[in-house]
Amino acid sequence: MEKLVTKYVWEWPVRITHWVNFLSILTLSVTGIFIGSPKTLALDPSQYAMGWFRFIHFVAGYAFAVSVLSRIYWAFAGNEYAGWRTFFPYLFKEGRKNMKETFLFYTFFKPKAPHVVGHNAMAGSAYLVIFLLYLVMIITGFALYSEYAPNSFMNGAFGWLFSLFTNQGMRLTHHFVMWLLLAFAIHHVYSAWLMDVKEKNGVMSSIFGGYKSVPAEDEH
Ligand code: HEM
Ligand code: HEM
Repeated sequence: MEKLVTKYVWEWPVRITHWVNFLSILTLSVTGIFIGSPKTLALDPSQYAMGWFRFIHFVAGYAFAVSVLSRIYWAFAGNEYAGWRTFFPYLFKEGRKNMKETFLFYTFFKPKAPHVVGHNAMAGSAYLVIFLLYLVMIITGFALYSEYAPNSFMNGAFGWLFSLFTNQGMRLTHHFVMWLLLAFAIHHVYSAWLMDVKEKNGVMSSIFGGYKSVPAEDEH
């Protein structure tokens, strides 16, 4: 068996933003489903049940937006594994080769996953789509939020979107993309776990601690 060494791959901004995004998506989904299909929870309006659900949704919405924008900044300031190139593998020869080999592994044509230190090419491409969906949620979320203050700065920034979407179209998009993100999460945890077992690279713990196990030649 080849010698493995530990290598610091995911810097703290990558890990913190990953977990802030995860926790806020969880909070936003629970409160969002309630906002979309409300049930009577309070005995008296003074208990402010829907108000609290909406307030928590908006606080988590701001946390999510700050976290996603910070991660986009880090794609230009962080190390090579966090850099923007990892999300556009097909622009590079090495990335295209890795994409093909990873695809063959996932579709059971090859028994061994190709080795990479950071995200594999298919994961990187999938994460690009996820980041675009994050932006859709932030833009549609703030557009809906801006409707409550028609003369505000927020409405100036996002209100024009209502010339492209009807109000219900905006809500439907916001609601539907939530299910795409939740469906992705199921597949994502499965494949991260699979890679952890197959590659023995400690990828699952790496998103908590930052270190992965890599072959000795990849140490530097
Ligand atoms: C992944 C992130 C998010 C998820 C999963 C999510 C989920 C949802 C869902 C399911 C609804 C109900 C839609 C309906 O059926 O009518 C909703 C409503 C809403 N969301 Fe989000 N949301 C997210 C991000 C955001 C963000 C970043 C904001 C910005 C502040 C935001 C603001 C709103 C607003 C203003 C409403 C309408 C509230 C109302 O009319 O009472 N959301 N959200
Ligand atoms: C809403 C749920 C989740 C979403 C949308 C999500 C999304 C993402 C994204 C976009 C990345 C790339 C990070 C970056 O480069 O900044 C990532 C990496 C990662 N996530 Fe998640 N994540 C979710 C939940 C989880 C959970 C629950 C786990 C584990 C229990 C997990 C394990 C990992 C691991 C191990 C990586 C890094 C390894 C790699 O794929 O290259 N994620 N995730």
